[in-house]
Amino acid sequence: MAEADAPSVPTHVALIMDGNGRWAEGRGLPRTAGHEAGEKALYDVIGGALEAGVRYLSVYAFSTENWNRPPEEVQFLLNFNRMLLRQRRNDLKDMGVRIRRIGRKEGMPEDLLDEFAAAEEVTGANDALQLLVCFNYGGRAELEDAASAGAIPDHLYAPDAPDVDLLIRTSGERRLSNFMLWQSAYAELYFTETLWPDFDRRALAEALADYAARTRRFGGLSAGSL
Ligand code: IPE
Ligand code: IPE
Ligand code: MG
Repeated sequence: MAEADAPSVPTHVALIMDGNGRWAEGRGLPRTAGHEAGEKALYDVIGGALEAGVRYLSVYAFSTENWNRPPEEVQFLLNFNRMLLRQRRNDLKDMGVRIRRIGRKEGMPEDLLDEFAAAEEVTGANDALQLLVCFNYGGRAELEDAASAGAIPDHLYAPDAPDVDLLIRTSGERRLSNFMLWQSAYAELYFTETLWPDFDRRALAEALADYAARTRRFGGLSAGSL
């Protein structure tokens, strides 16, 4: 696609929300306080994504590898997310957000799956912004599941979602950690030192501005090249 034709606002933004633990540790707080602060950041970023006209926001909430954390932290994250889905679903509905759970169901507690299903139901008619909550998500698991079902693109967890345009990772780490391996094949990558709880809609706007200044080539040549 020629540069001039490429939409300057990414349709699909993927977020690796990292650094909650370090944010809390830096304040002498338990890691769980970082997860709580991180949720507020996400809520603000969802508002910013809506304002900007982003259509899909994939957020890495819990990876297939996060089961390796101490049991107390895992339990906190399961309970916390269940509580949040209940608490936020009506507000998100009013904002025009459609919530979708993405990831492996196996291994997830039934009560959390139920809460996801309720949130999907309540917000199911919305289409301003699709919020793909990646929970018990791993890119390799997704590809294994898709490949065993048939043609990979048709069997991704959200096969209708377009490829990731912009992938943001906070906290200074520069890796994918098994996120959206297929969908991010041509994603623009944006890394920031900001810890996730300090990220907000302004920080998102900076990332979007950075994205808008890039030239995507998809293996071809950019506009103006001979
Ligand atoms: C990201 O923050 C949240 C989850 C992985 C659930 P971390 O908990 O990984 O925070 P750090 O990387 O330890 O600072
Ligand atoms: C990636 O962060 C997973 C989520 C943000 C949910 P991690 O903190 O788990 O990743 P690593 O361990 O630093 O690669
Ligand atoms: Mg981390």
